[in-house]
Amino acid sequence: MSKSEKKQAAIVVHEYGGPEVLKYEDVQRPEPRDDEILIRVIAAGVNAVDASIRSGKFAKVLGTRLPLIPGSDIAGVVEKAGSKITKFKNGDSVFAYTNLKDGGGYAEYIVATEREASPKPQSLTYLEAAAVPIVALAAWQALIDTAKLSTGQTVLIHGGSGGVGTFAIQIAKARGAKVIATASTRNQDFLKELGADVAIDYTKQKFEDIVKDVDVVLDSLGEDTLKRSYGVVKKGGFIVSIVPRPDPAELERRGIRGTFISVEPNADELAEIGKLIDQKKIKVIVSQTFPLSEAIKAQEQIATGHTRGKIVLKVAEEPK
Ligand SMILES: NC(=O)c1ccc[n+]([C@@H]2O[C@H](COP(=O)([O-])OP(=O)(O)OC[C@H]3O[C@@H](n4cnc5c(N)ncnc54)[C@H](OP(=O)(O)O)[C@@H]3O)[C@@H](O)[C@H]2O)c1
Repeated sequence: MSKSEKKQAAIVVHEYGGPEVLKYEDVQRPEPRDDEILIRVIAAGVNAVDASIRSGKFAKVLGTRLPLIPGSDIAGVVEKAGSKITKFKNGDSVFAYTNLKDGGGYAEYIVATEREASPKPQSLTYLEAAAVPIVALAAWQALIDTAKLSTGQTVLIHGGSGGVGTFAIQIAKARGAKVIATASTRNQDFLKELGADVAIDYTKQKFEDIVKDVDVVLDSLGEDTLKRSYGVVKKGGFIVSIVPRPDPAELERRGIRGTFISVEPNADELAEIGKLIDQKKIKVIVSQTFPLSEAIKAQEQIATGHTRGKIVLKVAEEPK
């Protein structure tokens, strides 16, 4: 293979900063190790954390080094499988939550392990599939693995119209739970369409004036929401936060449990989520798409904190 064939277009961060540090460039393609697949990326999901990584906020925690290619959510086609790969072969359609070690998904190629990638749900386009991994896994790991949400329980989902929230509502409904969800006025009907039993408009009502004795709260917003959430959970109930850490003293005082979680790649759970999608129990909401070269616009939008569903970068044409 000639050197030029091993080049790829990608979004590269050479210095931490605002969206303007995202540069569209030609760089070297990654090479898969024995236990990795090389994926030709068709679409890359845009997450709130991508903007935090770009700004340098998580450089210490995640050990990110410059230059870096952002983006951990992708859908694409297996181009080459390492010698130890048994799960995939060339030409397979996959979606994945990958680490950023050898470059992220805002690029034409990415490598992933079998722990990170799963078969793409057949009912989804690649653009839709790229919208799934991080936020769906975060909702799953928060509600199912951590809070052990079960049939008949009631859950309050803050930010129900966002990336995590849209999946959290549908995962909770698929579990047989009763769902109360919050969002602004323009998203009230949307919350109901996703399956919420009760929709609360945070611009008009305080959720703590309406909600009492829930089994579980999922907080993806921040300190203010978390502080006001302790009082709406029943004794023995659970607050799971994916943004701030719950205060152990406050939890103990009220006789409730709670924790912060950080989403982990999990190919088995991703495959399970994919099955629920193909069974039409979960729908994927992509509200905006941008070409890869316009990653700046996509990250400006995600930084507003008011995105409905997901934003996706289109990297290549959908294969036939
Ligand atoms: N710990 C982890 O592993 C993990 C994993 C994934 C995400 N996260 C974090 O979780 C957060 C949310 O992620 P996301 O992808 O869901 O974000 P997002 O897609 O930007 O969604 C934010 C949603 O929150 C709603 N919202 C804004 N202010 C609100 C308020 N005061 N009350 C209720 N709803 C409100 C917005 O609806 P309106 O437009 O109607 O206001 C919007 O739909 C981010 O900070 C992200 O970094 C953490």
